Amino acid sequence: MKIRNSKVLLTGATGGIGQAIARELTTYGAQVLLTGRNSKILERLASELNCEQIACDLSNEVQTKALLEKVGDVDIYIANAGIPGAGSTLDLESSEIDNVIDVNLRVPIKSSTIISRSMITRGAGHIVFISSLSGLVASPTTMLYSATKFGLRGYALSLRQELAPKGVGVSVILPGFIRDAGMFAEAKVDLPRGTRTKAPQDVSSAVMSAIENNIAEILVAPIELRIGAKLGTVFPRLAELAQNAGPARAMAERLRDAQRNVH
Ligand SMILES: NC(=O)c1ccc[n+]([C@@H]2O[C@H](COP(=O)([O-])OP(=O)(O)OC[C@H]3O[C@@H](n4cnc5c(N)ncnc54)[C@H](OP(=O)(O)O)[C@@H]3O)[C@@H](O)[C@H]2O)c1
Repeated sequence: MKIRNSKVLLTGATGGIGQAIARELTTYGAQVLLTGRNSKILERLASELNCEQIACDLSNEVQTKALLEKVGDVDIYIANAGIPGAGSTLDLESSEIDNVIDVNLRVPIKSSTIISRSMITRGAGHIVFISSLSGLVASPTTMLYSATKFGLRGYALSLRQELAPKGVGVSVILPGFIRDAGMFAEAKVDLPRGTRTKAPQDVSSAVMSAIENNIAEILVAPIELRIGAKLGTVFPRLAELAQNAGPARAMAERLRDAQRNVH
């Protein structure tokens, strides 16, 4: 699928990774519709990139329905909005659990169902879901985040098989630790010595590549984390041991505490 001149709906456009994706889409010549909750950032970004923007709280069903009606048919849908939902479900309010599931999983599933109908009619289109390495391997402090990111990956890979014969592509992107901007960078937590990161632009490049080449899944992380995550899916006990080793466990707890304060 060619990105140039395509109409794209991008959620989470106000965030660290979303802004990088928005910038790269416009350099490819796409007509981008930006959405997020923060109107100030949306307006600034839309004016900088000469794009349209619509503020929308995706946890609000009425607002989400209105957004999709207003947007109409799109060639590319990028479901990037997400929240960390850090901490144990034992410590979260029921409404917090619902909110994380809504924003990270329910809305991408429901929106892609609506959006893909017109793509199927036209026999063309592409849908990208931003999951996470936490969608492959569970860590002790991110159970709800992992639940939604595992779910998003499963949904994306299944939807891909359903839509392929209808001419519509589906990809899932799994970033690891992203530096400089976004929810991990904002938490300002030091990683265990030697842990390498990627930049928001690495995620946006992966998104472009996934769309243009119809790639099923891209892990955006250094090779050692990519291998570790894939091994962790086959040997969950191995992942458990690695995640609970001293520095990794301590970092996960610091990240949980920082993200509970930010979000
Ligand atoms: N950063 C990383 O290291 C990393 C790693 C793996 C995966 N990811 C995934 O990458 C995606 C983008 O993350 P990021 O790092 O860019 O995070 P971020 O900077 O915190 O941005 C999150 C985005 O989601 C939007 N959002 C959150 N709740 C929303 C709601 N109720 N309604 C509408 N929009 C909402 C935010 O909009 P407002 O701010 O305008 O409310 C913001 O644009 C997420 O799905 C995340 O899980 C990130």
